[in-house]
Amino acid sequence: MLRVRNSTLIAPSLMAANMLYLKDEVQAVEVAGADWLHLDIMDGHFVPNLTFGPDIISQLRPICSLPFDVHLMVEPVELCIDLYQKAGADHITIHIEATTDLRKNLNTIKKLGCRAGVSIKPETSVNQIKDFLNAVDQVLVMSVNPGFYGQAFIPSVLEKITVLKRIREEQGLSFDIVVDGGINVQNASSIIEAGADVLVAGSSVFKQPDYKKAINSLRG
Ligand code: DX5
Ligand code: ZN
Repeated sequence: MLRVRNSTLIAPSLMAANMLYLKDEVQAVEVAGADWLHLDIMDGHFVPNLTFGPDIISQLRPICSLPFDVHLMVEPVELCIDLYQKAGADHITIHIEATTDLRKNLNTIKKLGCRAGVSIKPETSVNQIKDFLNAVDQVLVMSVNPGFYGQAFIPSVLEKITVLKRIREEQGLSFDIVVDGGINVQNASSIIEAGADVLVAGSSVFKQPDYKKAINSLRG
C-alpha cells in the first residue's frame, strides 16, 4: 500500500505538562502545531504510577480540537474502554500485556467509532502481535518501560520498528507506527528513519521553553 503521509506526526504527552495549568498547556501545544494529544492513563497496577482519568479528558475535550490519542496502561483494560470513548477519545490504544482477549477489545474500540491501537512494552516482541496487525489502525511501540515520563530511550526498540514497517509492506497493511518514550532531538531522526510515523514526546515538548520550536525540531 502506498503511504501518502510525508511528514512525521508529533503527539505531545500531556503527563509531562504542568498540571497546575492544564488548560493553558493543552491549548499551547495545539497552537504550537502538535498533531495529536497523547493522553497516558495509568492505574497504579499495570504500571506503578497514576495520572488522570475520563473526567479530566471530558473537560479538556471542548477546549482542544486535536485528536485525543488515549494510551491505556490499565489492567484489566476491558472495564474502562467505553468510559474513555465517552470522555472524548479519538484513538484508544491498549496493551497486549494487559488483556486476555485482545481481538475482542480491538473490535469494541472500533465499534465505538475510535481508531484502535495495540501497544507492546520494550520486552514484548513484534511476533506476539503479528496476528493482530490486520485489525489495528496503529501500533504503539514503547521505547521506555511504561509508567513515567523523562526516561532514557531503549535503543534495541529500533529493530522492532523496522520489523513492523517490513511486515506492513509485505502484507499491504496500513497501520501507523507510533513510538513512545525517551524521544528527543538527538534520537528523533534515527527513530523516523527506522519507520516511525508518529512520535510521542513528553519531556522534549512540555519541559522545553518554546513548544513550537520543540515540536518542529522533532519532525526531522
Ligand atoms: C510512559 C508514557 C509516555 C511518556 C513519554 O509510560 O507512555 O507517553 O509520557 O514521556 P517522555 O517523552 O518524557 O519519555
Ligand atoms: Zn504513552
